[in-house]
Amino acid sequence: MKKNEAKKTIQQLREQLHYHNYMYYIENNPVISDYEYDQLLKNLEALEAQYPELITPDSPTQRVGGKPLEGFLTVKHKVPMLSLENAYSYEELHAFDERIQKNVGAVEYVCEPKIDGVSIALIYENGVFVRGATRGDGVQGDEVTANLKTIRSIPLSLRGSVLSNAEVRGEVYFPIAAFKKFNKEQEKKGEQVFANPRNAAAGSLRQLDPRVVATRPLDIFVYYISYSDKEIHTQEEAVETLRKAGFRVNPFIKKVQTIDDAIQYCEMLEEKRDSLDFEIDGAVLKVNSSATQKQLGSTIKHPRWAIAYKFSAKQATTTLNDIVVQVGRTGTLTPVAVLEPVQVGGVTVSRATLHNFDEVKRKDIRIGDTVLVERSGDVIPQVVKSITEKRTGDEKARGIPRKCPVCGADVVRTLDEVAVRCPNKQCPARLRWRIEYFASRDAMDIEHLGGQTIDKLIEKHLVESVADLYHLTKEELLNIEGFKDKSAENLLQSIESSKSQGLARLIYGLGIRHVGKYAAQLLASQYHSLEELGNASAEELTQIHGLGQKTAEAIANYFATEENRTLIEELRDIGIRTKEQKHIGKLQGKKVLFTGGLQTLSRPDASDLVMKQGGMVVSSAGKDVDYVVVGTDPGSKYEKAKKLHLHIIDEDEFKQLVGTT
Ligand code: IVH
Repeated sequence: MKKNEAKKTIQQLREQLHYHNYMYYIENNPVISDYEYDQLLKNLEALEAQYPELITPDSPTQRVGGKPLEGFLTVKHKVPMLSLENAYSYEELHAFDERIQKNVGAVEYVCEPKIDGVSIALIYENGVFVRGATRGDGVQGDEVTANLKTIRSIPLSLRGSVLSNAEVRGEVYFPIAAFKKFNKEQEKKGEQVFANPRNAAAGSLRQLDPRVVATRPLDIFVYYISYSDKEIHTQEEAVETLRKAGFRVNPFIKKVQTIDDAIQYCEMLEEKRDSLDFEIDGAVLKVNSSATQKQLGSTIKHPRWAIAYKFSAKQATTTLNDIVVQVGRTGTLTPVAVLEPVQVGGVTVSRATLHNFDEVKRKDIRIGDTVLVERSGDVIPQVVKSITEKRTGDEKARGIPRKCPVCGADVVRTLDEVAVRCPNKQCPARLRWRIEYFASRDAMDIEHLGGQTIDKLIEKHLVESVADLYHLTKEELLNIEGFKDKSAENLLQSIESSKSQGLARLIYGLGIRHVGKYAAQLLASQYHSLEELGNASAEELTQIHGLGQKTAEAIANYFATEENRTLIEELRDIGIRTKEQKHIGKLQGKKVLFTGGLQTLSRPDASDLVMKQGGMVVSSAGKDVDYVVVGTDPGSKYEKAKKLHLHIIDEDEFKQLVGTT
């Protein structure tokens, strides 16, 4: 292509890509598929490779930056980044309002969530994103432009002509669900885990390699125009202008007329707090009118026209009474903090996770320490740090245990793993988890078999493997404290009926490493018996679409182990269904997603119907999903399914599909 023509095409492609990026990341309403988007991007990349002189900083190809930086430049902010005055009670909000009324009369407020992330400033010149910086000390911060460009909801060039030269403020955050997943993966890889989503966002923005940042699902809400060549009359108008210019603004921003309404807003928001996918630590009240804001002015620290109402803290300090060691299903030893009970954000906390022994050492957490405990989202409480200033000298460090606290076996620690493991497969702790997992709802669904019962069965040496469950007698159960005629019969009955749960549930229940519900269904649809699956090589297993290398190896390893083979033989001899009829079901190879409540079927029953017909149940909406069964009060999966134009059916249609009506 000639240069002139290329220039025009490049321009068109960029406009299209900006538009589709906006529809996807801001409007949540993609109008083309990911594949089509990638094709447009590839075309643009090819043309830019041919004419590198035509590359501009706002080209969609420039999101994932080139080389790692040596360090960050320090930049001075155009307008100092002030912090907000805090209020911890509604009285303080009333006092704030009275002060304002005294000075300027009654005002309207704009109420916003106070996002708990990393504060940043974005500079646009002639509509193009040229520079972004962290808050730093408020006067100057680190220039992190390349890292910010990886965030897809930051427009590289502004939409329309509402804004062209401006400084925009916002908060970069790590979405909570993604944070949990990210931390789990980091832990598996033996890499740094973050204490909370805010630290993860800050840590990510501090990365010198933008390619690493591009792998972190950071997002942003913007909330303030600190400078612009367009006159802004109110905060409401600022928010609207930002939205029109293509930024992501928080959906909970609301204008109110009185301080009482603002307080009601705070109450509403605090109730929502745990259900959001971003951390908030309060609400921000801003005087709406820009003229009034100006009149009220600022102190050197904060504006007089805004205040942050802080929710009850999700952190508290308490004494760490002990560090005990828990043994998990796969034998992993996890240190757990036993705390002097303390209220954290309205919940009493007496135990908290310490993740792993490396963490304990790195953070130098000792028994007897005063520690800072935090609860974020609905995650398990965790110990953030020790307050070393409070040490008396009597604190004791807790080393890595050499022996399993339950069975006494010597622990093992592989070089590439942070985990410390008990290698004894017969360790009662591991046996307990294995049985609980095997009996769980998604596996063999053995009702009436709770953790306490399992403990007693192990204690009395009645079960040493899951197979032993099937040999239990009524007499044996009646010997256990708490069991009566009826309860013993009930348990035996559920154990008996679990025999016919089918292959997918059985595979899942075996607890093979890396084999979750989805992988188990996938395997059951490919292999029709446990024997067949057991004979598959790792190489053969990796050929299955959707199964990773690690999983394939874990499966092959599982079946290569003598005792596992023996167990499977035993299960078969007991009469557990280890084979699936080889018939082509009506949903052979199809993926089905459920969202919302079903009226006449339980979820596990509905899943079974899918599997019986050779289909697979998936848990998120993707392009490869064949049917989405929508019940009452469906969630965000339904929205996503609509956007992806998936085949949506209701419960009746589903039943027709699987042939139960
Ligand atoms: S307005 C001059 N609005 O809270 C205006 N700040 O302690 C200053 N923050 O540094 C900020 N959500 O990082 C504003 N909706 C919101 C906010 C917000 C979070 C952060 C921001 C600021 C800190 C103040």
